[in-house]
Amino acid sequence: MPYPVLIAVAWPYANAEIHVGNLTGAYLPADICARYHRLAGRPTLMVSGSDAHGTPITVRADAENSSPVEVYQRYHRSFLDVFIKMGLTYDLFTSTHTSNHYRVSQNIFLALLQNGFLYPAREMQWFAPSQGRFLPDRYVEGTCYRCGFTNARSDQCDRCGSLLEPEKLIEPRSKIDGSRPELRETEHYYLDLGKLQEQVVSFLQARESYWRPNVVRQSLGQILADGLRGRPITRDLDWGIPVPLEGWAGKRLYVWFEAVIGYLSASIEWGLLKNQPDAWRAWWHGKEPRSYYFIGKDNIPFHAVLWPAQLIGAGTRFDELMDSAPAEPLVLPYDVPANEFMNLEGEKISGSRNWAVWGREALSRYDPDPLRYYLTVNMPESKDTDWNWEDFYKRNNDELVATWGNLANRVLSFTHKHWDGVVPDPGELTDTDRELLRQIDAGFKTVGREIEAVRLRSALAEAMRLATEVNRYLDITAPWQAVKTDKAGAGRAIYTAINAINALKVMLSPFLPFTSENLHTMLGYATPLFGEQGIESCTDDLGEHEVLRYYPEKASGHWTPERLQPGARLSKPEPLFKKLDAEIIEEERARLG
Ligand code: MF3
Ligand code: ZN
Repeated sequence: MPYPVLIAVAWPYANAEIHVGNLTGAYLPADICARYHRLAGRPTLMVSGSDAHGTPITVRADAENSSPVEVYQRYHRSFLDVFIKMGLTYDLFTSTHTSNHYRVSQNIFLALLQNGFLYPAREMQWFAPSQGRFLPDRYVEGTCYRCGFTNARSDQCDRCGSLLEPEKLIEPRSKIDGSRPELRETEHYYLDLGKLQEQVVSFLQARESYWRPNVVRQSLGQILADGLRGRPITRDLDWGIPVPLEGWAGKRLYVWFEAVIGYLSASIEWGLLKNQPDAWRAWWHGKEPRSYYFIGKDNIPFHAVLWPAQLIGAGTRFDELMDSAPAEPLVLPYDVPANEFMNLEGEKISGSRNWAVWGREALSRYDPDPLRYYLTVNMPESKDTDWNWEDFYKRNNDELVATWGNLANRVLSFTHKHWDGVVPDPGELTDTDRELLRQIDAGFKTVGREIEAVRLRSALAEAMRLATEVNRYLDITAPWQAVKTDKAGAGRAIYTAINAINALKVMLSPFLPFTSENLHTMLGYATPLFGEQGIESCTDDLGEHEVLRYYPEKASGHWTPERLQPGARLSKPEPLFKKLDAEIIEEERARLG
């Protein structure tokens, strides 16, 4: 039985548009892996949604003079649009503003409480006397007491990545009016991380050998250096999930505490939408499932420390509260392949300065596969990378078009011209032919292994190297010449090349799903490699929310396809990619800033 794969993708705050840094940081690598694991025949579930609560949303609503509901719905809708166009095959992309998510989050809270991992405590928090209210998280900015960064938010520093204890912030100022807040006492629930430390450390040590070094450093490394202390998981806010206890009106669950629970609640919602209320368990119970969490580096402590602590602490009690029998512990992350950041033309991406390539705009001018290609060859897997328009232009023309697109097009057009679009009979293959097919077939192992280890740059580089090998093979066998004197020999080379291309189509399909699907049709297949996506509207106690769903039922893809046989009929070839004009480089640069 193949192991189930959960592809858990970071939940974007529904307070800003998606840019290329977000795509390459988390959403695209997640989709590449999900598509691959599906082709490999593993039960795969890819879930995420809009992070609709917390101060990121309320601060934005305040600034716009609108409401948090209005803000989250507007951006959520826009995410659905970008994700469909980009080909991100979420089995479910929902939001944290659903009654299912409320229920699941409140049950995790109660499970932790009943298991003795939560305690109430009174501590000092920033308060604005002028407004008569507390100022949690992003409502206060100031200087990081760890690294000295002067624009740190009270709960997290964007420069050194530390989770901060808000009351220690230096030179605090209110985000609302710049005034200096004062400390007042308030009561909150704390997650007793000290009590969970030992179990979290063993969890991390069991994964240390294969996790990315930066992720180990920001989880195990930090704990061994500093230890874990209790952290408040409720806030003085009126937007978000209520604390499910009497006497706690006016307080809400901390956005980070509940957003990570979304991976679990979205899995449950996905089953409910299919009328299979127990389906989620295949990914959340037992020893078999592997869950991969695709996030940017600023999210590491929440996914590699807090979320595992929540899962360990909730234990079998969560199932009991959900009435799901048998009660079993919840599956802990298998890997958290966090990416570094992508810069743009040498500078940090910044939405407010319009120093960004927005997903929505890029997709209005370019096809999704060239964007996916560039975002993969440039993925910040081990260090920050840079989006550079000249590089985008070159890699599109010199690699995607020249190495891969032309290869497919040349061979298919030639087959139409000389064999009426039918795969020629090769007769007996030569050593050269067999050697090429052997190399290509070996690619399924290598490329697959690289994707399983989430080394996607290397996986794509290997598939493209094999495309170069096919080009080299055609240079040697030169069927375009041979056809005049030795049609049988030319047919053998074309049969070999077509089968190499058919294999490469699959290997490249997680990266380039749209053009691979087109090529799949040109190669004569009647059913698609991948399923379809759609937007559906769901209604619950909180009102209406729209979700993105992927329907894999119609997909026919297999990671290792059968050979195309002589006599198989191909359909009319069309170019897979467009050559870009050099003018786009300056046009695009002029749009920045
Ligand atoms: N909304 C967060 C961000 O954009 C990510 C949340 S991931 C989650 O940085 F799992 F916590 F939801
Ligand atoms: Zn800092």
